Amino acid sequence: MNILGFVYGFRCHDTAAAIVCDGKLIAAVEEERFTRRKHDSAFPAHSIDYCLRSAGLSMDQVDLIAFPERPYRSGRDSYLAEMNWNSLLQLRARKAASFKSLLHKGLLDTLLPLGFRWNWQMQSAVAEGFDRLKLTYPKLPPVRFYDHHRAHAAATYLTSGAEAAAVVTLDFSGGPYSTATWRGHESSIDRLETELWFNSLGEFYWDATAYLGFGGFAEGKTMGLAPYGDSRRFEALFETVLERKDSHRFKYCGWPSGTALGFAARSVESPLDVPFPDVAAAVQMALEAGQQRTVESAVGGANSRIVCLGGGVALNCSANGALLKSGIVDSAWVFPAANDAGLSVGAALLCAADVRELGTQRLEHAYWGPEFTDAECEAAILQEARVLHRRSNGNMNEEIAKALAAGQIVGICRGRMEFGPRALGNRSIIADPRRIEIRDRVNRLKGREFWRPLAPSVLAEEASKFFELGQPSPFMLFRTQVKPEKRSIVPAIVHVDGSARPQTVTREGNPAFYELILAFYRRSGVPIVLNTSFNSASEPIVCTPRDAIASFLATGLDLLVLGDFLVENVTLRSTACLADQIQQ
Ligand SMILES: [Fe+2]
Repeated sequence: MNILGFVYGFRCHDTAAAIVCDGKLIAAVEEERFTRRKHDSAFPAHSIDYCLRSAGLSMDQVDLIAFPERPYRSGRDSYLAEMNWNSLLQLRARKAASFKSLLHKGLLDTLLPLGFRWNWQMQSAVAEGFDRLKLTYPKLPPVRFYDHHRAHAAATYLTSGAEAAAVVTLDFSGGPYSTATWRGHESSIDRLETELWFNSLGEFYWDATAYLGFGGFAEGKTMGLAPYGDSRRFEALFETVLERKDSHRFKYCGWPSGTALGFAARSVESPLDVPFPDVAAAVQMALEAGQQRTVESAVGGANSRIVCLGGGVALNCSANGALLKSGIVDSAWVFPAANDAGLSVGAALLCAADVRELGTQRLEHAYWGPEFTDAECEAAILQEARVLHRRSNGNMNEEIAKALAAGQIVGICRGRMEFGPRALGNRSIIADPRRIEIRDRVNRLKGREFWRPLAPSVLAEEASKFFELGQPSPFMLFRTQVKPEKRSIVPAIVHVDGSARPQTVTREGNPAFYELILAFYRRSGVPIVLNTSFNSASEPIVCTPRDAIASFLATGLDLLVLGDFLVENVTLRSTACLADQIQQ
């Protein structure tokens, strides 16, 4: 059976599509990679087209569409039915209203408009999406609707390979919930507990990120800033902001006022001085405590010490690393696109499980996006006058390793593009981790803040020599400590607190990237390369050869690997030649 999943809707971002055929994932891709708008919310027309082409199918051959949002059809079914008096009180408290106004305005002012408006807008958006799809594909297959959180849970549990697991989905919000815990067993997913949308770890972290002056979708910056701060100053305050009580796992009471914090929100231009790093540290600590309490309750409910994490909060690799260290779980699994883009895969897998075509099976890699032939790469190169190119001499990985060892920063665009926000060797910028000055240069070229860390990709069998990581980390989603005696060997990938966010690379998962790191290992004695996504700060990760050439030229990288071609920037090359001539 051929099942197409896609993500689109009201307040939706990171729209995407995926296709599953006979229980096997064939392709998955985010719309932003085609439109070149980061976190794009556009209808995923390009993604759907790519998924169908990748599977060699027309829409007529798709048996079912799986959609990861369920607009409620009746009052009884609506998420208003999830509310009770306590949640109403909590919501009004969050909105800083008095008890008197609560009594005066009550339900009519709060819950009904919120619930119905959301529902109506979601229904309109979904209807509009399907209308748009019908313009291109007049005859559509039947559609199955799934809950947002259930689709997140499916994306992580059904790709974990675990027969039994505790499943936790932590989001800003999705449908009526921010958080849900589940029991995954024999490919079915039973809901245990939920938190309503206004009690949200994701919203807490989002609010903190805004207060720190980083803007939307910049939670990674808050996470990167946290190790620079001292959490002690704000610990007590954030225990009241994100309460922990026996009766619940966490309770977000709303972001504190400037008066409570003692200073106003940071503007984008202001320096990142004290107290902002301290706020980030306390916020990170509070998030980790909330996540751990939620996982603890899921582990108890599911009676399993294997946890599968999903939802946008599961991209917080520091929290995931702290969870592993806490001893609450024996192992953890995170789907590489834990954010809403991954709902496309989650819904399609749920649908496949419904029609009994799927058991839980381990996802071996994240390379589900487009790839391009050498002929397509060369055609793109020939359209750009500012580059020179040549085919590799037959051992491309040796040539790249040589360039890295010589201090060059290399952009790589070959093989299928990664699904999810992490570049894992096919759309990556890589460099020598032994040189601290390279970290600063990579950050500068990409337009990233100088203080942000860069991640390592390490041969899986060598990982334990460098990192205190107790399990594989194929998708770069667990932070861990670099062994103290190794930090001076690879300073460019060590964060200020001695931590790193490694990707463990296996030959089976990505043969070409594995061989590249191995070639660098033979040359340098270090089985690690520095790896960051191939894009500038303002653009999505590159997809096509054309994107790669444009980003290569805009960022000023030293070398581009495009399929089997090595590409140089003419301007940089002539500058280097000139410098050589002057030296001679
Ligand atoms: Fe979500």
